[in-house]
Amino acid sequence: MAEEFRGMPCRRVGNSGLFVSAIGLGMWKWGDPLYDGSRIGDHEGFEVFDRALELGVFHWDTACSYNLGSGNSERVMGRYFASRGRSVREQVVVATKIHNPVREEHAMQADFTPNQLGASRAYIRFAVDKCLQRLQTDYIDLLYLHQNGMDEEGNYRVPPEETWGAFDDLVTQGKVHYLAVSNHSAGQMKHVVGVMKQVGKDVSRRIVAVQNRYNLLERDQVACEEGGKEASFLKAAEKAGAGMVPFYPLASGLLTGRYRKGGLDSVSGRIIDDGTQAEFFTDANLRAVEGLMGMAGEKGISLAQLAIAWLLANAQVSSVIAGVTKMEHLEDNVQATQVVLSEEDLKRIDEVLEEEKGE
Ligand SMILES: NC(=O)c1ccc[n+]([C@@H]2O[C@H](COP(=O)([O-])OP(=O)(O)OC[C@H]3O[C@@H](n4cnc5c(N)ncnc54)[C@H](OP(=O)(O)O)[C@@H]3O)[C@@H](O)[C@H]2O)c1
Repeated sequence: MAEEFRGMPCRRVGNSGLFVSAIGLGMWKWGDPLYDGSRIGDHEGFEVFDRALELGVFHWDTACSYNLGSGNSERVMGRYFASRGRSVREQVVVATKIHNPVREEHAMQADFTPNQLGASRAYIRFAVDKCLQRLQTDYIDLLYLHQNGMDEEGNYRVPPEETWGAFDDLVTQGKVHYLAVSNHSAGQMKHVVGVMKQVGKDVSRRIVAVQNRYNLLERDQVACEEGGKEASFLKAAEKAGAGMVPFYPLASGLLTGRYRKGGLDSVSGRIIDDGTQAEFFTDANLRAVEGLMGMAGEKGISLAQLAIAWLLANAQVSSVIAGVTKMEHLEDNVQATQVVLSEEDLKRIDEVLEEEKGE
């Protein structure tokens, strides 16, 4: 029987026993908008959290460093748990990430020694205790190493046995339930799998998910290395037993149809506010959006739903954590679970992308 919660399909994260809602909540832009450049704070955020749980969306993804390293994305979630109580906390799969430095809540900048960030045993212990405080909880369901921890020459800054030994200890201590990596290539992921075999207390201590950039317009980005390819990376993740959790699933909002070729001067949104137009508004991307909009229109769905349904059509994808900064985003995105893309549809999507992007 397929697992579901309040009508929301649930998926297992890789080969682990952890289930997540097929639609998750991406919380990069959650925080204290007055101080940290985030786009949604407590007031509207709490309403979105309430509605998310009503809709069965219980996988919430944050990081200690979101929004200028303020820690505020975690704090919003922590204040919500404090206000709603233990039974609500227990429904949520809290995913967070450590590696990047975190400054004081309202400080606009800070200096850090090399020990105040990264993947050393000392920093991992310190960082996780701080996450738990901000999240107002005593356990993290899914903890990611946010970055691969390598320097420019491709050497680990910290011996990986130390990093993953410290992660494994967190599981023993009950502070963390499952471990995962982010921004890792296939080779880096494979290496971590090998290290976990050496340092993990038993065979169940493993990497259960990989969170890399992946969406319809940026398919090879998932490989997280120059010249890497989507298909081989996904195969490597499957071999590693890791579920795929794509970040930027909507290409920062481009895959919602809000930003169209003819209307870029008058549009507002995060791509404009973040100044990332050059990264996303390429001719090829804008042409592809037009082609995909046509297809979504024929099916009577939004472009966001098409983009999310395309990711969910891949069984390797555990959950789509699109960033939500308004209630209507959540309402729109959850509808993607109702969209069934046939083999014919998937082929058509490939053709549109090939035609418009030359892929
Ligand atoms: N591991 C990593 O290194 C990493 C990096 C980046 C993100 N992440 C995680 O991945 C999550 C998802 O990525 P993301 O938030 O960066 O990008 P995204 O999901 O591709 O795009 C999110 C943006 O799209 C817009 N949006 C979302 N749903 C919409 C809808 N239905 N209709 C219209 N607009 C909609 C919103 O823009 P507006 O705010 O402009 O309205 C929102 O900020 C993040 O929130 C974070 O949890 C992880």
